[in-house]
Amino acid sequence: MTVKPIVLQDLPPDLKRERLPKHVAVIMDGNGRWAKHRGLPRIMGHKRGVDVLKDLLRCCRDWGVAALTAYAFSTENWGRPLEEVDFLMTLFERVLRKELREMIEEDVRIQFVGNLSALPRSLQTEIARAVAETQHNRGIQLTVATNYGGRQEILDACRAIAHQVQQGLLQPDDIDEALFERHLYTAGIGDPDLLIRTSGEMRISNFLLWQMAYAEIYITETLWPDFDRAEFHRALCSYQQRERRFGKV
Ligand code: FPP
Repeated sequence: MTVKPIVLQDLPPDLKRERLPKHVAVIMDGNGRWAKHRGLPRIMGHKRGVDVLKDLLRCCRDWGVAALTAYAFSTENWGRPLEEVDFLMTLFERVLRKELREMIEEDVRIQFVGNLSALPRSLQTEIARAVAETQHNRGIQLTVATNYGGRQEILDACRAIAHQVQQGLLQPDDIDEALFERHLYTAGIGDPDLLIRTSGEMRISNFLLWQMAYAEIYITETLWPDFDRAEFHRALCSYQQRERRFGKV
């Protein structure tokens, strides 16, 4: 007899709605290892990873988390074997094309952060279409970090601000946190309250360096393709037990 997994549709009763994170960020790590353990090519892990992200997005919406940000491709990921990079670019494009209708129906607003101009043209077209067609949706905000690097984002913001100072549009003393944030790729998206990283690695890997200043971090040994609602539930329980002091006493 096979045991059916428990599908947690509603917010589990042990979680307090008023203490949920508003914004969850995920580093979806372990796809390659998951596939290798099964004797499959690495790309199969990424393929399965898309289904997991889809279910997490739905779960966030079901449970009342307003925003989800996923690290899909870092500026360092170009260093992977060409076939894997090609597969990922094609996968992103295919997923966007296939899921757009459903995202519209499910009131998802999708946004992208990163240096998008270096992505294949056809992917840029799908990104622009998905962003435009979901821009008025308010059910949940999904941000996909693609060709993203936290240091590069900070440098780009510094450069943009420096130009404005050079042109006399800004004084150095005008530069405060709020102004700086408006020059980040994530302007208007807000900081994550909770960062989840799968596969047990204890690193931030150049992800949202500025935005992560006060995020709570949850690391699980589970590989991304095995991450499910039960694991997300554990992450939220852990988050709700933390006392967030933001540097105060
Ligand atoms: C890290 O695992 C995973 C990635 C670099 C790719 C993640 C991308 C997806 C799950 C697809 C998301 C799709 C959309 C459209 C947003 P790894 O390959 O580094 O795993 P390993 O550490 O076991 O090798």
